[in-house]
Amino acid sequence: MRFLEVFSIKTDLIEIGDDMVEALEKGMRESGLILEDGDILVVSESAVATWEGRVVNLDDVKPGRLACNLAVRYSKDPRDMELILRESEEIVGGIPGVVLTMNKGFLYPNAGIDHSNAPPGYVVLFPADSQKSASIIRDRMARGKKIGVIVGDSRTHPLRLGCVGVALGCVGLEPVEDARGQKDLYGRPLMITRKAVADNLVSAAQIVMGEGDEGRPAAIVRGAPVKVEGGLKCEIPGIPPKECMYIGALRCGPRPYTGSYDELIKQATVAREGAYAPYSHFRVGAALLGKSGRIYSTGNIENASSGADICAERAAISKALSFGEREFDAIAIVGDTPEPLSPCGICRQTLIEFGEDIFVIMANLKGDAAMSTASELLPLAFTKSSLKNQ
Ligand code: THU
Repeated sequence: MRFLEVFSIKTDLIEIGDDMVEALEKGMRESGLILEDGDILVVSESAVATWEGRVVNLDDVKPGRLACNLAVRYSKDPRDMELILRESEEIVGGIPGVVLTMNKGFLYPNAGIDHSNAPPGYVVLFPADSQKSASIIRDRMARGKKIGVIVGDSRTHPLRLGCVGVALGCVGLEPVEDARGQKDLYGRPLMITRKAVADNLVSAAQIVMGEGDEGRPAAIVRGAPVKVEGGLKCEIPGIPPKECMYIGALRCGPRPYTGSYDELIKQATVAREGAYAPYSHFRVGAALLGKSGRIYSTGNIENASSGADICAERAAISKALSFGEREFDAIAIVGDTPEPLSPCGICRQTLIEFGEDIFVIMANLKGDAAMSTASELLPLAFTKSSLKNQ
């Protein structure tokens, strides 16, 4: 028979400046819990973040222009929006009240910023380094025993109501087990099954921890059929957005630009000044970032015979190619337009030739900007792969 035991740990309220490990150990002593070899300690991310000092008074947050604009778009408090921008690498999109953000390859609602379990007027940010905190907790609490530590959070799955556990940091056990090659009931090899062991352990722990005022920020899972090893440190593995069934299938539209390509926009703005546009007087600047790190920028080039006009984007691509650069990360385009300048169809086609994932940063002189990828701007594109079956 296989069975699992899960013990919640009740603690005093953990506030800024408190030593969370001491609070956990006190809670364990009071309920007679002692860690054993093979135990896995799951600790909630909000307790870890508070312990890390990641608590912010909203009165100290001054929202910038972008935060104010996005706050209207997503029905958020501008101060929350400002923190979301500071805490995330990319804004994927959102619905009223929730902004979906991406950081180090993982998705987080509202950049993981929490109003619950924070003192009134304060919010708890995401742990700065869940992996490191998990290591410290283990080093201090193991006392010679082989234990695993997981920093856990909760998430919803697309179209499902309710949260399940998700691991943010993990030491002492393999967070994802590869079950490919294992046989199914009929002897066929499993093709894509990987077991999210750490996430499942967090879910089990959350059943006894609760998410509200229970005051149980941690739990011990005992008897799980996983190998707990002393030295094992494990990054939680993810998959690229394109290989993710949800993100890959949905393809998000233009996302708000949040500041990662400011230099590229600057260089496109400068290049715009040098555009040759004596006929339309519509000057455009483009700056293309090669994988080598070099930037190639130019303006549009017009002709008395307008069919010979070359847009700034294509001129920049030609320039880069002439220097032997073939792979690109991003292109910024700037024009004096009411909305961020969106590239023309021919330029989209030219761009996608060199990579579906090239980021396109569309900007105007007023400082508005939006961001997409080449393939988002040209769905169902005809590309070199279309020629393959000739
Ligand atoms: N133009 C660009 O350089 N890039 C675009 O994405 C749109 C249009 C230029 C071409 C032409 O010189 C002028 O703008 C007016 O069409």
